[in-house]
Amino acid sequence: MAEAQLRKHLALVGLMGSGKTTVGRKLAVRLERPFIDADEALAVTTGRSVRKWFDDSGEEAFRAAEVRVLAGLLAADDPSVIATGGGIVCTEPGRALLSRPDVTVVWLRASPAFVANRVMQKANKDHRPLLDEDPRIVLERHARERNDLYAEVADLVVDVDPVHRDAEKPKRTLAEMVFEAFSQIDAEKAARDRAQLARATGDRPGGVPRP
Ligand code: S3P
Repeated sequence: MAEAQLRKHLALVGLMGSGKTTVGRKLAVRLERPFIDADEALAVTTGRSVRKWFDDSGEEAFRAAEVRVLAGLLAADDPSVIATGGGIVCTEPGRALLSRPDVTVVWLRASPAFVANRVMQKANKDHRPLLDEDPRIVLERHARERNDLYAEVADLVVDVDPVHRDAEKPKRTLAEMVFEAFSQIDAEKAARDRAQLARATGDRPGGVPRP
């Protein structure tokens, strides 16, 4: 785990209902990091809930606000686990933030049928105004429009449907899978950084980069 501490934030992306928040919470415990739900952070920092943003200012303004909030979360020194909103990849600035080298992005890839089924069982849809329409239709469309964008920013892809089908405790299993893969990715990234630093300093004692 010492290597993993060299990296910064871990961001979960994926469709609404893919489990970013529940898996993220468990993962944060495992990594001994704080967990932040970006929708909640938006409500706290702006004083307006997701629904209020949609109602009062519209989706475009909400997208700009969620990007600002994510930028703030990523600026924190403490490495964290962040569950992003499902639409963070819809804007170029959102994707640019997630593509920074100091952020590891995990895509919880789920089929639209699976997530639609899950969100329809949830009583509280307050932070998901887009699901006021038929979730099956909305999430099919989101999968079509967004899956390439999730793929573009992801360092790691985890398929959610089979785990829910096969595992006894799917959320815990997913968190464990991400933990293992993240530790691996992290160690590889840290090794690359060390090699780069060694090249820059010519392996000189003191590690002072060449001018
Ligand atoms: C949205 C997803 C929601 C929330 C907002 C828009 C989307 O977050 O940000 O309702 O466009 O997919 P979750 O993915 O956490 O539900």
